[in-house]
Amino acid sequence: MDPRSGPNSSLKSICISLLLVFGTSSALKLTAPSPTIHGIKGQPLTLPIHYDANASSSGVQIIWLLERPPAPPACLLTSYNHTLISDLEFQHKFTMNPPNASLLINSLHTSDEGNYTVKVNIQGETTMSATQKIQVTVHVPVSQPIIESEPSYGTVENVGNLTFKCHAMEGTRVQYLWLKNGSPLQQSSSYSFSKDNSIFTIAPVMKKDIGNYSCLASNYVSEMESENITPIIYYGPYGLRVISDKGLKVGEVFTIANGEAVRFDCSADSNPPNTCAWIQRGNNSMEIINYGTHFKLLSEKVGQKTVDYLCRAYNNITGKGEETQFTVIITPIDQEKLSQITSSLSPLAAITGVSLFVILSICFIFVWKKYQLHRAIQWKLQPRRPSTEYRRTPIYSGHEDAINDFGIYEFVSLPDSAAPHRVITPGTNSLQIQDVNGTVYEVIQFVPEQMQNDPQS
Ligand SMILES: *[C@@H]1O[C@H](CO)[C@@H](O)[C@H](O)[C@H]1NC(C)=O
Ligand SMILES: *[C@@H]1O[C@H](CO)[C@@H](O)[C@H](O)[C@H]1NC(C)=O
Ligand SMILES: *[C@@H]1O[C@H](CO)[C@@H](O)[C@H](O)[C@H]1NC(C)=O
Ligand SMILES: *[C@@H]1O[C@H](CO)[C@@H](O)[C@H](O)[C@H]1NC(C)=O
Ligand SMILES: *[C@@H]1O[C@H](CO)[C@@H](O)[C@H](O)[C@H]1NC(C)=O
Ligand SMILES: *[C@@H]1O[C@H](CO)[C@@H](O)[C@H](O)[C@H]1NC(C)=O
Ligand SMILES: *[C@@H]1O[C@H](CO)[C@@H](O)[C@H](O)[C@H]1NC(C)=O
Ligand SMILES: *[C@@H]1O[C@H](CO)[C@@H](O)[C@H](O)[C@H]1NC(C)=O
Ligand SMILES: *[C@@H]1O[C@H](CO)[C@@H](O)[C@H](O)[C@H]1NC(C)=O
Repeated sequence: MDPRSGPNSSLKSICISLLLVFGTSSALKLTAPSPTIHGIKGQPLTLPIHYDANASSSGVQIIWLLERPPAPPACLLTSYNHTLISDLEFQHKFTMNPPNASLLINSLHTSDEGNYTVKVNIQGETTMSATQKIQVTVHVPVSQPIIESEPSYGTVENVGNLTFKCHAMEGTRVQYLWLKNGSPLQQSSSYSFSKDNSIFTIAPVMKKDIGNYSCLASNYVSEMESENITPIIYYGPYGLRVISDKGLKVGEVFTIANGEAVRFDCSADSNPPNTCAWIQRGNNSMEIINYGTHFKLLSEKVGQKTVDYLCRAYNNITGKGEETQFTVIITPIDQEKLSQITSSLSPLAAITGVSLFVILSICFIFVWKKYQLHRAIQWKLQPRRPSTEYRRTPIYSGHEDAINDFGIYEFVSLPDSAAPHRVITPGTNSLQIQDVNGTVYEVIQFVPEQMQNDPQS
């Protein structure tokens, strides 16, 4: 007997028996983690099968079968206890370590796709059998997809349509998902997608469609995102405004002072940037005075108090324009303004005046004091006046000559106010005073020796 045909023919007969007994149910349970397993082309794949082997079992038979229509079912390998019998056609392709029923596919090919069926027979007092089917799919990982945009140069809003096509060069069963600024896009009134989602159309294009688009290509085994594509969308002009660098703007009226040079800028949201025409309106005439986004008005050259202008913005691609009117009032630098300037200065003048006054006062007092001191010294140099002079001088009355009051004072209450006595010692002055209660005091002034002799020395 041919050793090649021997085990193979027995394998075939077992396989046929497997097909016949297909669907037999018993207490034996085979479990697979998933009914479908996705494999990657070129990589090995394991089909894990678990079953409960009983210690009392006298033999374990495992059979693997592959169905891939339209080809007839093929028996891949079979085993009994630890012995493996492979189909020679597939012996390098599939391996198994019996009694472990898991099947290893060495290197996946697209042709390996199909339904794999395993049958396990366990011999005991009674033979138990179980089968399990696993569907295997083989995938090629996706490569980074590329987006083609149509038109590629730019689209005018409300007029043009935009079509994106996403394509990944490699990858099987690729699915596409469209993202705008990283978030998936949903079907909407202006968005439409092709059946396989690889083509995405925006019709009509709006300004709000500006953004970064990408597509995500994925299959069961991989995913890749395209580079961002930012379509050029022409729109506008919108929100035309005229602004000036100087002057006061109230509504559409600018008030500027005569002599000022003011720059006016027209700003509008527009792509491409709009062009601007500046028009001066007369009573029944219009005169274009400048082209460009700004113009400089020299107020003294206008020769009118109130001038009406028009700014006309135009987008040369969308073909749309917008215009806005504004009025310039030129005010002369009048008397009122001048008086305002002076009145704004007056607080400063007041402060200066007050400060000057204070300084002068201080100077005057200083000079006056100096003069007083001089006079006092002069007086001291003169011969001493009689002591009666002191008695006549009321001590509490304000007097000019403070230098005479220099000294140490002693208040001595006199027990008998009716009999006053006075002892005038050299270097002292004294006088009597009466307080509210009627107590009589003698006030004695001691002038230190040195001070007394000072003028002489
Ligand atoms: C294992 O063996 C016991 C008897 O020892 C039997 O009752 C049981 O059904 C067996 N189970 C399986 C899965 O073979
Ligand atoms: C298979 O193994 C069992 C024990 O595990 C043994 O009883 C039986 O004889 C073996 N069969 C063969 C053909 O080796
Ligand atoms: C069977 O083989 C697979 C793959 O080689 C392994 O992951 C699994 O743990 C094995 N099962 C047992 C029961 O040894
Ligand atoms: C595998 O089986 C499933 C049903 O379980 C069937 O839909 C599929 O077509 C089969 N695939 C092949 C390749 O036979
Ligand atoms: C844009 O799409 C709309 C609707 O799909 C179509 O009617 C229109 O002709 C398209 N416009 C252009 C410029 O292709
Ligand atoms: C689009 O992408 C560019 C550069 O990658 C980035 O500067 C810009 O902010 C993005 N726009 C949005 C709307 O995310
Ligand atoms: C417009 O008409 C007014 C009188 O109606 C006249 O005072 C003024 O000068 C005119 N302005 C121009 C620019 O002709
Ligand atoms: C349209 O306007 C842009 C920006 O002002 C300018 O660069 C471009 O040359 C203009 N194109 C045409 C066709 O006038
Ligand atoms: C006046 O006399 C009364 C009673 O003797 C005393 O309480 C009071 O302090 C005295 N007043 C003065 C100013 O000496």
